[in-house]
Amino acid sequence: MSVSVIVLAAGKGTRMNSELPKVLHKVLGKSLLSHALETLSFSDNKLVVVGHGADLVIDSLPPSIKNILQKDQLGTGHAVSTVINSEVFKKSKSEFTLVVPGDVPGIKDGDIELLINEVKTISAPVGFLTALVEDPFGYGRIVKNNEEIKIVEEKDCSDDERAINEINSGIYCFKTEFLIENIDNLNTQNAQGEFYLTDLIGIANNQKQDIVIVQVDEDSIKGINSMSQLNEVEDIMQKKLIEGFMEQGVYFQDPTSTYIDADVTISSGTKVLANTHLTGSTSIDENCTIGPNAQINDSSIGKNSKVVNSVVDQSTIHENGNIGPFAHIRPGSELGEGVKVGSFAETKKSKIGKGSKVPHLAYVGDAELGENVNFSAGAITVNYDGKEKHKTDIKDGAFIGSDVMLVAPVTIGEESMIGAGSVITKDVPSKALGIERNNQKNVEGYVDRKKKK
Ligand code: UD1
Ligand code: MG
Repeated sequence: MSVSVIVLAAGKGTRMNSELPKVLHKVLGKSLLSHALETLSFSDNKLVVVGHGADLVIDSLPPSIKNILQKDQLGTGHAVSTVINSEVFKKSKSEFTLVVPGDVPGIKDGDIELLINEVKTISAPVGFLTALVEDPFGYGRIVKNNEEIKIVEEKDCSDDERAINEINSGIYCFKTEFLIENIDNLNTQNAQGEFYLTDLIGIANNQKQDIVIVQVDEDSIKGINSMSQLNEVEDIMQKKLIEGFMEQGVYFQDPTSTYIDADVTISSGTKVLANTHLTGSTSIDENCTIGPNAQINDSSIGKNSKVVNSVVDQSTIHENGNIGPFAHIRPGSELGEGVKVGSFAETKKSKIGKGSKVPHLAYVGDAELGENVNFSAGAITVNYDGKEKHKTDIKDGAFIGSDVMLVAPVTIGEESMIGAGSVITKDVPSKALGIERNNQKNVEGYVDRKKKK
């Protein structure tokens, strides 16, 4: 599509009352700005206006996206003027220019496409998206009187205008020529003393030009200017995301207590139980039971697995995995097919082979466990000597008894057994018994003798 795109992301977001630049606040795990950029992925000609917190905002951008600095933030009109007058824009401009605010994360690609098509079809100098809303507070109102069309900001509204419930989305498609000719004719005679981009609508109207207005669903153009709006929009987007999964055959026990980030994937037949948080780039395969109280981040869970009351972070669980209750799967864990990690067990940077079990009260860190290893209650890998981490290597079929300390670096051979309570500091050969503890002593009659004293 021959359309240049300008994304406005220089504002401070004063109403957020936060140090973080507004467009970097997150909804469903992704910044407001990345949501907007994702919707605009049809265009490879995007310019982002940065200003407040510019370094942070630039760092968050993919390297392919160019930015332009608006040193002082004198309003949305000034932001667009800064772009229009820049060399980068002049070199790359197209016939049409789309302007999108960076604080509207729920925009639908379909709405933008509709707007561009309408503007192109009648070759209008400008078109924009609006919505009819119940509570228009804070938005620019669309004022239509006879032949007149203009946008009036909340703070500039008369009482009658304030009652209008058609609002400006802040999303416009301009003929680039119209923008170039008029963007520097804005003034600051308004309640906020800013250059308002919205005044271009009044200007087009005064020139008796065609103005395209496309009304869309309120939810897709909600802007975020405060923490409470952030929460409101996140709620709406979360609901839609979960409804989408439901349509694909995923069961949710309690959507109101479930949080799922935008990039998570879940396959059909999976049950997501109450209080579950799935974040980052997590993927859940089919027929899993996740939750209640599961927290899974940047991880992949194979089909038919169970994760109950547990935390999984940056790890891979292959099919038929059985995690929890109360397990902590820390970064870099890879659990093979049918692996069980149960109550109060923790794994970190470890590979655990098919069919192995760490059923309770254990720590497996910097280790490689082969297939069908049994790692009993209270056993741990002693991976840290106070300075460095060392590796524990446990071969197929080994049986690690209860309360065993495997002091790394150490290798436990295939099908060997380690006696309960042993502190193992030397390698154990295959099929051997490794045991390290004093012989038991029974003192006969001790209890009665003690009572007599
Ligand atoms: C703006 C519109 C309003 C519309 C609403 C939709 C104006 C004057 N008003 O109001 O009609 O209903 O969006 O959400 O345009 N920005 C800059 N540089 C600046 C000022 C702002 O880049 O100097 C950026 C902000 O970072 C933000 C976007 O522009 O991403 C919109 O600015 P904001 O202050 O949120 O405008 P609203 O008051 O929401
Ligand atoms: Mg806004």
